[in-house]
Amino acid sequence: MTNRVVDLRSDTITQPVIAMRMAMVTAEVGDDVYGEDPTVRELEDRIADLLGHESGLFTPSGSMANQLAIRLHVGPGQELISDELAHVLRAEMGAAAVFSGITSRSWQAPRGLLDPAAPLRMMAPDAGPYQVSTKAIVVENTHNFGGGTVQPLEAISALRAATLPLGVAMHLDGARLWNAHVATGVALSAYGQLFDTVSVCLSKGLGAPVGSVLVGSRKHIDEARVWRKRYGGGMRQAGILAAAGLWALDHHVERLADDHARARTFAEAIADRFPGVIDPAHVQTNIVIADVGVLGWLAADFVSMAGDRGLRMYAVNDRSVRLVWHLDVDDEDTDYACNVVNELIPLAGQNPLVAQGS
Ligand SMILES: Cc1ncc(COP(=O)(O)O)c(C=O)c1O
Repeated sequence: MTNRVVDLRSDTITQPVIAMRMAMVTAEVGDDVYGEDPTVRELEDRIADLLGHESGLFTPSGSMANQLAIRLHVGPGQELISDELAHVLRAEMGAAAVFSGITSRSWQAPRGLLDPAAPLRMMAPDAGPYQVSTKAIVVENTHNFGGGTVQPLEAISALRAATLPLGVAMHLDGARLWNAHVATGVALSAYGQLFDTVSVCLSKGLGAPVGSVLVGSRKHIDEARVWRKRYGGGMRQAGILAAAGLWALDHHVERLADDHARARTFAEAIADRFPGVIDPAHVQTNIVIADVGVLGWLAADFVSMAGDRGLRMYAVNDRSVRLVWHLDVDDEDTDYACNVVNELIPLAGQNPLVAQGS
């Protein structure tokens, strides 16, 4: 047993740093539902600019930004398609069906990696009066449950080139697009211009406490603003929150490279000792998926025993666990994570009480 806690469950758990909190305290604010909050406007304009779009909309969460985009692109009874591990399909509580009355299908995608042939095979842009018509495709970059996978720009471009003439919209769930940008050096706008709408999160690797921004054409964002209010997402003196996002853009984007390096260091250390659990070549950003099942572990047992040793992680399925690097994890924490995982992996199949030495 230990008092040390290294929390790798998600990059959403970061504590806002003091300087960010100070920026929040001193932010100029107004009533944003009346369009009078200068700090919210600054954040919306700045992110729209970065992504090469006309207009932006501050939302309380990434889920709301994604759901507003779906609302714009897909009508009741029409179809959205995405990959089988996509956050919009797996982790937004069926919101697209509940709020927009739409149907969805998914294609298989190992590690969430986009192969444009898969959606192109599946979609039915104008299915006539007997089948459901596909109206939008969601691409997730980086891919969360896929293990921080970066989507190749060429794959996205190929999909865009094929879908644009058919009138099938593309939305980018860019909750962690910052990580893709830092890992590849590809400009945010180079990704952004390949989509009708893009959502980005400020509350993940960037370390802000709350907030996402949806960008798109002025027409799309004006419409999304109405739906945001309808969904109960109109916020008043939200500049307090937007200030944290602006501060994060200035101070926390480039440092994501440190998270990527630490995730890679961890992956290499574990792969050296236990080949097959992690392929370091698949660790492109801040997320590591470890297949502890390959050595006989049930993921939930592994998570529980690591938790007893102060290392927190998340079971993504029966056999795999996810570890996410972020602002509040340093080199020492990374060493600690390596030690715990190295110690635990060989204990597969043992009685947990014996394994804990109690
Ligand atoms: C890829 C992806 N999209 C969207 C979201 C939703 O963000 P939020 O938790 O702010 O609703 C998440 C959250 O983890 C995510 O990982």
